[in-house]
Amino acid sequence: MKFKSFLYTCVGVFSVLAVQAQEMSEADIRSRIQPIGKVHVAGAKAEVTSSGPRAGSVIYAKACVACHSVGVLNAPKFQNVADWSPRMEKGFDAVWKNAINGIGAMPPMGTCGDCSNDEIKAAIEHMIEGI
Ligand code: HEC
Repeated sequence: MKFKSFLYTCVGVFSVLAVQAQEMSEADIRSRIQPIGKVHVAGAKAEVTSSGPRAGSVIYAKACVACHSVGVLNAPKFQNVADWSPRMEKGFDAVWKNAINGIGAMPPMGTCGDCSNDEIKAAIEHMIEGI
């Protein structure tokens, strides 16, 4: 008899523990889902920012438009044949290199500190489009 009641006690204790363990694991799962969701969103954002070079029009609007739209300090104006033709005579690569290194009153990289050389190239191509 004594052994039987001991067994019942054991079963009772174990079932309480089992329920507690289940509750804990549910709470655990919930708390784990949260950070995973956040990590996923952060990862998606990172993908957006690292999805290759930005378009020339985006770089132009961000860094070049201030001077190149109206020709500040004699900057060659946006898609203006008369302004760009003489400059393009030295070849695209030379013009590109000048934009990277700076030339006269034109600051290196056109003040675009986070631009890659290829993004500068795309911005120039946008500025001379149709010329
Ligand atoms: C602070 C004004 C300013 C900004 C901003 C600026 N430029 Fe210029 N840019 C100039 C001026 C001034 C010149 C003419 C320089 C000269 O020939 O003396 C010039 C010339 C150029 C040339 C012609 C270079 C050559 O060899 O004749 C290119 C290409 C160019 N800029 C590209 C860019 C690009 C791309 C951006 C944006 C990422 C940009 N610039 C932003 C002022 C600016």
